[in-house]
Amino acid sequence: MHLGLIMDGNGRWATRRSLPRTAGHLEGVKALKRVIAAAIKYNVEYVTLYAFSTENWKRPDQEVNYLMGLLAKKLPGELPFCQENGMRILVRGNFDALPEDARKGLSKVIEGTKDCDRITVILAINYGGQDEIARACNRFIEKNPGKPITVKDIENNLDLPQIPAPDMIARSAGEMRLSNFMLWDSAYAEFLSIEDLWPDWGEEQIKMCIDALSKRVRKFGGLVK
Ligand code: FPP
Repeated sequence: MHLGLIMDGNGRWATRRSLPRTAGHLEGVKALKRVIAAAIKYNVEYVTLYAFSTENWKRPDQEVNYLMGLLAKKLPGELPFCQENGMRILVRGNFDALPEDARKGLSKVIEGTKDCDRITVILAINYGGQDEIARACNRFIEKNPGKPITVKDIENNLDLPQIPAPDMIARSAGEMRLSNFMLWDSAYAEFLSIEDLWPDWGEEQIKMCIDALSKRVRKFGGLVK
């Protein structure tokens, strides 16, 4: 099972407590750890987390720098947590366009968890579904100039073509948008919106995702058998 999670509401969580928005992001990291522990408990094989979008660069410098700082400094400090929990970390998004220290922090956890096999945790960073599709097309065109591109060609040139499509995409904070997340492979994903703000997420919300998915009838464009 592959769960895609749109982590929303960090800012609202902080504002409600008269804290700076960055405090909401820090609390969001704690939620992220609870969520992964729960996903492991419920035998989820893949979790993709929307951590920073191609549009998030529009936020104030201070907030962008804080989030990049989490990748550069906080994430490498979580390497023991990742290893102890058997988490293989992968990144989806325009990695090359990230600041160098963020790339270094990410590379350290990717390398340090490459043999972990209990769960694959994909961080969507500097990620946009439209940007990913454009980059996939360009990869194909570079290798096959002049050849018409097919659906399979695009699929095979996404950032992580070996990862199966998500079964469910869930979003926190009651929002009901995809916001440019996994546009290509969400074609037949089930969608769930949960009212709780991201920093309040933990096992309960993961159980809600799994219960909701078990009740959906998935036809993939065909008929119910
Ligand atoms: C959306 O909430 C959240 C983000 C844009 C960032 C998500 C980041 C984390 C959970 C921390 C982990 C991050 C990294 C980089 C490892 P929002 O700020 O849009 O909330 P709001 O809609 O209430 O303002």
